[in-house]
Amino acid sequence: MARPFSIPVGITATGECFPERVITNDDLATMMDTSDEWITTRTGIKTRYWVEPGMASSDLGAKALQMALDRRGIGADELDAIITATVTPDMVFPCTSALIQHKVGATKAFGFDLNAACSGFLFALTTAAGMVGSGRFKRIAVVGADVMSSIIDKTDRTTAVLFGDGAGAVIVEAVEDGYGILDFEHHINGVGAPYLNMPAGGSLRPTSHATVDAKQHYIYQQGAEVYKNAVRDMAEVSRVVLDRNGFKPEDLALFVPHQANIRIMDAAAKRLEIPSERMANNISKYANTTAATIPTALHQSAVAGKVEKGDLVILAAFGAGFTWGGTLLRWSI
Ligand code: UT7
Repeated sequence: MARPFSIPVGITATGECFPERVITNDDLATMMDTSDEWITTRTGIKTRYWVEPGMASSDLGAKALQMALDRRGIGADELDAIITATVTPDMVFPCTSALIQHKVGATKAFGFDLNAACSGFLFALTTAAGMVGSGRFKRIAVVGADVMSSIIDKTDRTTAVLFGDGAGAVIVEAVEDGYGILDFEHHINGVGAPYLNMPAGGSLRPTSHATVDAKQHYIYQQGAEVYKNAVRDMAEVSRVVLDRNGFKPEDLALFVPHQANIRIMDAAAKRLEIPSERMANNISKYANTTAATIPTALHQSAVAGKVEKGDLVILAAFGAGFTWGGTLLRWSI
């Protein structure tokens, strides 16, 4: 398979940020009818981090980006663009990228936000890589940042236990030939919209007393429908990019699935015949941080030495929309 961009493009640094306040399953059991036993066995989640009031996605995103810049050894003024994937922007507008740009001092960057829910980081990575691949841009920051605690009903046990707050960031640049993004397979299908959404606050149902009374400013999810599509589609796109490039699951050093539920992650890995020690897994500590799960799991794998230069990696996402995708990389750091 020919490389997807006219020059080789990859990730040259990673960073992350989580808020300090840890929320345990026992803490949640004081807010709603749930238990540590149910949450642990059904989701694999033990804790999640929630921001204090006043802290927003741009605060976490700016810190994660600053870490990535520091690890790369460059200044924010060397960025050409910032793309932030989020479903929890600080405000509907301006975009969160503008707020992050100002916080890190990226004086020469332009930017925008991208909303594809839990697939947002992957789609933003491809967008940034295409821009660098065009030859017009040298360095682009891709941030996945979500403050999910701002849109969950903390009395609804079917959704509130699943989500956490966090941000991950990467720097996207030209890399050595044979390294970086080798291929990707991305999809969107609005047939999934009824199963996972936030009903009010958009142009269809502007926020009103009635929408707030009906709790339509919170996440709505039909978990079982999302579950089965997530397993099937994350496994399928990963298989497509492997097959298309002549690789086998045993060639992979690391599989980085979206962290929504350990049972979904394990089932997708099993379909791909990838053993659990080669699957990135941070869900028990951080829960589902939406656009931040993949960049933070990738960052932690890199820091722990689970992925090294030359290793083959697959990132796989599934989220509201439905959106889903897989990206095949040869690690270049
Ligand atoms: O990132 C976006 C993508 N999102 C996902 O990938 C999430 C996908 N879905 C899931 O992870 C799972 O479907 C859930 C974790 C949301 C639910 O797990 P499940 O095994 O599908 O459970 P269920 O919805 O079938 O519920 C089983 C029972 C129900 O009680 P009844 O009706 O059998 O009496 C629920 O009311 O468990 C009950 N339940 C809970 N009990 C204690 C649901 N949530 C809880 C809870 N604590 N937190």
